Amino acid sequence: MDLTLLEGLAKGNLTPGTYDYYAGGADDELTLADNVAAWQRMRLRPRVLRDVSDVDTATTVLGTPVSMPVLVAPTAYHKLAHPEGEIATARAAAGADTLMIASTLATTSLEDIAASIAAPRWFQLYVHRDQGMTESLIERAVGAGYEAIVLTVDLAVLGHRPRDERNAFSIEGHEMANLQTGTPDSEGSGLAAYADSAIDPGLTFEHIEWISSLSGLPVLVKGIVRGDDASAAVDAGAAGIMVSNHGGRQLDTCLATADALEEVAAAVAGRAEVYVDGGVRRGTDVVKALALGARAVLVGRPILWGLAVDGASGVADVLEFFRAATVRAMALCGASSVDEVDRSLVA
Ligand code: FNR
Ligand code: LAC
Repeated sequence: MDLTLLEGLAKGNLTPGTYDYYAGGADDELTLADNVAAWQRMRLRPRVLRDVSDVDTATTVLGTPVSMPVLVAPTAYHKLAHPEGEIATARAAAGADTLMIASTLATTSLEDIAASIAAPRWFQLYVHRDQGMTESLIERAVGAGYEAIVLTVDLAVLGHRPRDERNAFSIEGHEMANLQTGTPDSEGSGLAAYADSAIDPGLTFEHIEWISSLSGLPVLVKGIVRGDDASAAVDAGAAGIMVSNHGGRQLDTCLATADALEEVAAAVAGRAEVYVDGGVRRGTDVVKALALGARAVLVGRPILWGLAVDGASGVADVLEFFRAATVRAMALCGASSVDEVDRSLVA
């Protein structure tokens, strides 16, 4: 599989507005590009003469077994890519024995996503200005058997998305199913209009403890790129830290996540699990992320390309691509298990 070719095929199946929404980033899209380039800049120092006849990519995330250290990042609006939307994605993740993080802004309700699979799943939360709505989302996620809450903290305001503004992006008659609303009519981005009116810009570290006590679930904080913030989030009760810059869609010229990861992992110092996303496109990227302290990576856009091309089986193909590529990279680094991927593998 070639993810670049896959993106081209996906583009042919999407409206221009949807493709631009999925592919686009903030402002000049410098961080969008740097997320990929930063992994490519890193060099590996492989071990040899280690029997790698049986490479095992299995690991656990917050104690949940997964087949590989590759999770499905929360991304909004899957029905723009395929009529089965998030259910197709969830089924493919379950079929690959890995884990999907369902977005607050999904086009399928969190309950319907949960009902479609008998597999672990996490719920990504956007805290809304309407506290009652936020509490309801949390209670619903608990009731639907989600096993962790992923609190996204890098969208205090929506990043400037030139493509979406130009296209007057909307979700084309679909609904944000958890919120029973579409995106508002807007001369610019309908998502920007929604985010500015509904998503709470007043998040603080106290929200971590509030969500943890309200839900009784582990809380992972997604959107951190600094060691001091990561340490403070752990102090506030975070069970996981997701090093992320939202795939370059929020603050352009934010440093690439590959360049932020090691500082965050050092600051967390084993007190919580560390994850990373942004520009992960190769098995070598997965190995580099683990070597620098990540428990697992999350993948965003490639999942959407697979969904747009062939629904659940398209997503399954993308996940299989990452599994096979990770096996190959581990084998060529002399690592038969994720525990054998250590810092010395990265120059
Ligand atoms: C996202 N992302 C995102 N993150 C989040 O916490 N909640 C969300 O609803 C969304 N929605 C969303 C939509 C689309 C189209 C994209 C591309 C991204 C960010 C996502 O979880 C992740 O951080 C990045 O996508 C990772 O980068 P890559 O793998 O796409 O390069
Ligand atoms: C985005 C929001 C929905 O990046 O997270 O589009």
